[in-house]
Amino acid sequence: MSAKKPIIEIKNVSYSYESIDGRRISALDGISLSIERGSFVAVLGHNGSGKSTLAKLLNMILTPEKGEIYFDGERVSGPGDIDENVMYAVRRRVGMVHQNPDNQIVATIVEEDVAFGPENLGIPPQEIRDRVDAALAAVGMTEYARHAPHRLSGGQKQRVAIAGILAMMPECIIFDESTAMLDPSGRAEVMEIIKKLNKERNITIILITHDMMEAAMADRIVILNDGRVYADGTPQEIFSQVDRMRAIKLDVPETTAFMYELSSLGLTLPRGVFNVRECAEAVAAALFAAGKVRV
Ligand SMILES: Nc1ncnc2c1ncn2[C@@H]1O[C@H](COP(=O)(O)OP(=O)(O)OP(=O)(O)O)[C@@H](O)[C@H]1O
Ligand SMILES: [Mg+2]
Repeated sequence: MSAKKPIIEIKNVSYSYESIDGRRISALDGISLSIERGSFVAVLGHNGSGKSTLAKLLNMILTPEKGEIYFDGERVSGPGDIDENVMYAVRRRVGMVHQNPDNQIVATIVEEDVAFGPENLGIPPQEIRDRVDAALAAVGMTEYARHAPHRLSGGQKQRVAIAGILAMMPECIIFDESTAMLDPSGRAEVMEIIKKLNKERNITIILITHDMMEAAMADRIVILNDGRVYADGTPQEIFSQVDRMRAIKLDVPETTAFMYELSSLGLTLPRGVFNVRECAEAVAAALFAAGKVRV
C-alpha cells in the first residue's frame, strides 16, 4: 500500500468566540490533527466540544486565533491572515454539507440548485451540464432533476445538497451532523452515499456526528472534548475503551456496551467489537469454549 499524504494538517490551533458581554469563550484549545487523503474520519463529542468550529476553520469560514492549517502541504490559514484567492480555492476543494437540508437549497429546481456552485466558479455551460448530470447520478437523484426541491423528503434534499458539492469536484467533504434531522431511512440513504464517495472516488470524508453506529463506519474516530482531542483511533480502538468513553459521558454502540457487560460477568470476549454478526459469533465462541453450549 502506498503511503498516504495528509490532505489537511491542523497544527496547534486555538479559537475562541466573543460572548455578548465581551468575554472570550474558548472553542478549540491547541488541537493538532493530520487527515490522510482518501480517509474517512468521524468526529464525535458533546454539544459545545468544538466540532462545528473545527469544520468552519477547515472551510475557512473562520481563521485560527493561534496555530496554522495546511491543505495539501500548503499553509492556507493562520492568525489574522486571509488571502481571498486561497480561501475560495480551499472552499472549492473542501465542501461542507450542513445539518438542516432546507437551509442549503437556493434554487427552485433541483438541477439549478446543483448548478449554483459551478456557475459561481465560472465553469462553461456545457461542462456545468455534464457536472450536474454526473452529480445527480452519483446521489441517485437523476429522475428528480426537474423537480422542486421543497417537495422532496429530508433525505432527498440532503442528497441534492451533496450533489451541489460534488458538482464543484471537491477533494474533501465535511458533513456537520448532516443526518441529524433525517428519519432512519433518510440517514441510511445519506450514509450509503458518503461511504460510496469515499471508497469509489477517494474523496476524503470528515463526518461530524452524535451517532455511534455512523461513527463506526469510519476508518478513524476523533473525539473532541472541551476543545481538545480526547481520543483518536480506529473504531475498534476507540470503542474498546468503554470506561474512558463513559468518563466523559459518551456512549459506545449498544452492541459494544452489551459485550462489555458480558465480559464483566466473566465471559472472555474481544473488546471493541460492534458489528452485530461479529458480536454474535464472539459470544457463541465464548459460550462454546466455556462449555455452556453444545451443538
Ligand atoms: N457564534 C458563537 N458565539 C459565541 N460562542 C460560540 C459561537 N459558536 C460557538 N460558540 C461556543 O463555542 C464552543 C464550541 O461550539 P461548537 O459549535 O464548535 O460546538 P459543537 O461541538 O459543534 O456543538 P454541537 O454538538 O452542539 O453542534 C461552545 O462553547 C459554543 O457555545
Ligand atoms: Mg456543531
